Amino acid sequence: MKLIIENDAGTAATAAAQLIAEEIGTHDTPVLGLATGRTMEGIYARLAQAHEQGTLDFSCVTSFNLDEYVGLSAEDPRSYHYYMQDHLFRFVNIDLHRTHLPDGAATDLDAECAAYEAQIARSGGIDLQLLGIGDTGHIGFNEPPSSFDTRTRCVELDEATREQNAAMFGGDPNAVPHEALTMGVGTILDARRLLLVATGPAKAGIVAKALEGPITPEVSASAIRLHKNYVIILDEASAAELSPATLAHAQRNA
Ligand code: GLP
Repeated sequence: MKLIIENDAGTAATAAAQLIAEEIGTHDTPVLGLATGRTMEGIYARLAQAHEQGTLDFSCVTSFNLDEYVGLSAEDPRSYHYYMQDHLFRFVNIDLHRTHLPDGAATDLDAECAAYEAQIARSGGIDLQLLGIGDTGHIGFNEPPSSFDTRTRCVELDEATREQNAAMFGGDPNAVPHEALTMGVGTILDARRLLLVATGPAKAGIVAKALEGPITPEVSASAIRLHKNYVIILDEASAAELSPATLAHAQRNA
């Protein structure tokens, strides 16, 4: 594991964007796994800025997002399709035909999930998968318990997750869809490299659990410790509950 601790959320986003830009630069046809959520907004803003400054080219990038709410169309402002347009795709020269998210409005959700897995395989697999972490310890929408061999599928969202994501739904957890399509933990572990980013004091407890607690389907983020090539970028606030032993191995960029 490579653990990087930055001063604050801003410098953590800069470090993450830099790592993603480097990854793009090392492949002729990079395949990125993308994530959503507030943590990613600063990262996408920096990638967009690098593109505007002429230092980052997305023309050969293929992307696969982790997840989408069931029942929301791509045009729905609360959907992750919309989020990706709004925060990244419209600012960069990515070919929209090469961007993929599971279709939460599909009539046959199982077929949609199987097709998504097949598309990832056809693209040659994901070079770098970007991950956030939810309050339940989920990566993507892999709520507890999610066994480590799960593939893209329809899951029921925990109440805690609907509460965490309620802001986009007028603050009402009940207005948040009860189901989502998500890459499985197994799908995520198949990526050649993982990058998990967490910032802010609210993430400190779950970050410590994921990095130091048991590796268990009860905390799907703990699965990343089974991967042979993963990087974790935190800020000081989200690293606050890590043990001295873990912190001793961290690269600190304060
Ligand atoms: C959602 C997404 C997760 C993301 C999480 C954290 O639940 N499905 O992939 O990691 O939000 O969001 P935030 O960055 O807003 O804390």
